[in-house]
Amino acid sequence: MRFLAISGSVRRASTNTAMLRGLQAAAGAGAEHGVAVYDRIGGLPVFSPDLEAAPLPAAVAGFVAAVAAADGVIIASPEYVRAIPGGMKNAIDWLVSREELIAKPIALAHASHRGDDMLAQLRTVLATVSGRFSADIFLRFPLMALSPDDIAERLRAADAVETMRAYLADFARFCGEGDN
Ligand SMILES: Cc1cc2nc3c(=O)[nH]c(=O)nc-3n(C[C@H](O)[C@H](O)[C@H](O)COP(=O)(O)O)c2cc1C
Repeated sequence: MRFLAISGSVRRASTNTAMLRGLQAAAGAGAEHGVAVYDRIGGLPVFSPDLEAAPLPAAVAGFVAAVAAADGVIIASPEYVRAIPGGMKNAIDWLVSREELIAKPIALAHASHRGDDMLAQLRTVLATVSGRFSADIFLRFPLMALSPDDIAERLRAADAVETMRAYLADFARFCGEGDN
């Protein structure tokens, strides 16, 4: 399975992006499951239906192609002001009236012990835009406020790698169920 892991944070030292890179490392190179990290939502223009006509802005075309190529999408986002950050919602808005997301398996991951208001909103939005959003498959590491070195060490630990591999295996199973 090929997963696209979208970070909702464009911060250089983002804990969510670091967690998704940890997931990528846990999957292992050339292994059964591959994770591509998409950390470029900051390059997407503000969505407008007026811009949906061909040709799409180049950054959007790249984003849409990455989503289309994935068997499943993983989203990890911070909470901003008890809500989905504007950039994350903007990225989702670009996909809403297109076909790539409608039947795409989606699961959440989250890099903080906080942010449950945002997670509730994201669950509502994703269940609206995809018929295959899994509310049950969820990965969470409380990494907020940890240094990049501490995060890397935490994500390299054997128990964390095992948790991440189990998450990927669960999600792969969920993705495969749609192929029957
Ligand atoms: C503008 C802004 C608003 C925030 N609002 C909240 C919030 O409402 N609730 C919360 O738990 N954390 C809030 N935070 C903290 C972030 O959600 C938290 O630091 C998160 O782990 C950052 O994710 P990242 O490391 O991937 O960027 C806010 C941070 C910023 C910059």
